[in-house]
This record gives sequence, structure tokens and C-alpha cells, in this order.
Amino acid sequence: MRIDIISAQPKLLESPFSHSILKRAQDKGIVEIMVHDLRDYSINNQQQIDDYAFGGGAGMVLRIEPIAKCMDKLLAERTYDAVIYMTPDGETLNQSTSNQMSMFENILILCGHYKGVDQRVRDKYITHEISIGDYVLTGGELGAAVLVDSILRLIPGVINDETSALTDSFQDNLLAPPVYTRPAEYDGMKVPDILISGHLKKIEEWRFEQSIERTKERRPDIYEKYKGEIS
Ligand code: ADE
Repeated sequence: MRIDIISAQPKLLESPFSHSILKRAQDKGIVEIMVHDLRDYSINNQQQIDDYAFGGGAGMVLRIEPIAKCMDKLLAERTYDAVIYMTPDGETLNQSTSNQMSMFENILILCGHYKGVDQRVRDKYITHEISIGDYVLTGGELGAAVLVDSILRLIPGVINDETSALTDSFQDNLLAPPVYTRPAEYDGMKVPDILISGHLKKIEEWRFEQSIERTKERRPDIYEKYKGEIS
């Protein structure tokens, strides 16, 4: 997979991709992540990339020309399965979207900033608009890092334990059950007996029941989807 990210604040994206699992995925050649600094495509020597909004109002808007220059260059080099704009008014990210995108070959992500981007960028280039939740961030970079993380961990070879991503919360519209590790007792708090019984089938059943209970209690909306799926 190849992921290109266009950003006015590329340094914000350095850390998430240069450590741990996402770094290893790149080192293994499973994914190539390229971050493009929008200022390299600015319209003048002052490295201008934004401007005042027509009609007035507070906040600067990213101009179309630098984005178009960068996007046209990338689009001429390869075909993208998705050209995504990170924005709080996009569709809220969920596991199903990440699952679908984990099968894509090339993804292009544009991070918004300031008051947003000129609407003509969205009209001309964008195929998917994604929000990571109903709150407003200072820009799309952190959202892009969340999106990329959620996609990459689903690609075989990225996480060492292959079954692990499939048993995550949300994968089958159920939240994951509680997990424990050593010590078996801490400050009077014991690990449920069943988990140290060695009874694999019973452990499996217990985990499933716990998943159901947790989902019912914490996310009744998801539980309804689960019930719809099994009926
Ligand atoms: N940019 C600003 N807020 C955002 C959000 N909630 N999701 C994605 N991109 C954003």
C-alpha cells in the first residue's frame, strides 16, 4: 500500500509514523507513507498557501492552487482508490470504513487547516470526506494519523499476531471482552477463575458472554446492529 498525505504542518505527522508498529510496517515494505509539505507548492516567494475568505469572516482558508499543483502531480503518477479530505463535517470514521480502506492500493489524504479549504478543492478532487469524531481539531493531521493507524493495523504482517486484529472491538459489532495478565492476584483483586482453568472452550464462551454484556451496557447502539446481524 502507498499512502500520500498533503499537509501544511508536516512535522505534526513525523512522530506517529516513525515509531513502533507503523515504523516497522514501513521498514518491512508493507506500506510506503509519503508526507508532502503544502508550502513546497505555494503560490509565491512568501510561501503563501492560504487567504481570507470571500464574504468576510474570521480565519484563513487554504487556497486551491497549491493543493491542485500537488494533487495533479500525484494523480499523474498513479491512480488512487481514495482521495480523502480530513474534516469535522465529513462522515464519521468507523471500523467498517477502515476495513474497506485496508484493501486499497493507493490512498491520498489532504489535511485541512485553519478555516478549511476552498470548496472547489473538495468538488474537484475529493472522493471521501472523513471526520474522526464530533469535535474540532486545529487541523486534519492528527485525524489523518488516526485514520492511517486504524487502516494499517488491519494489513496482514503489520501486527505480529494475525488473529488479534480480527478479535478487536467493533470487528463483529461487539466490544472486546476484558483481558488480564500476571499476577493472578493483585491487592486482593483476582483474575476470573475461568481464565486460569485451561478450559479453552469455556474461556471462549466466557469471553463471548462478556463481549455481549459489555456491548449491551456501554454501546447499546452497536448491540442493536449486532442483534440485527445475527437474526
Ligand atoms: N479536522 C478538524 N477537526 C477534525 C475532525 N474531527 N476529524 C477530522 N479532521 C478534522
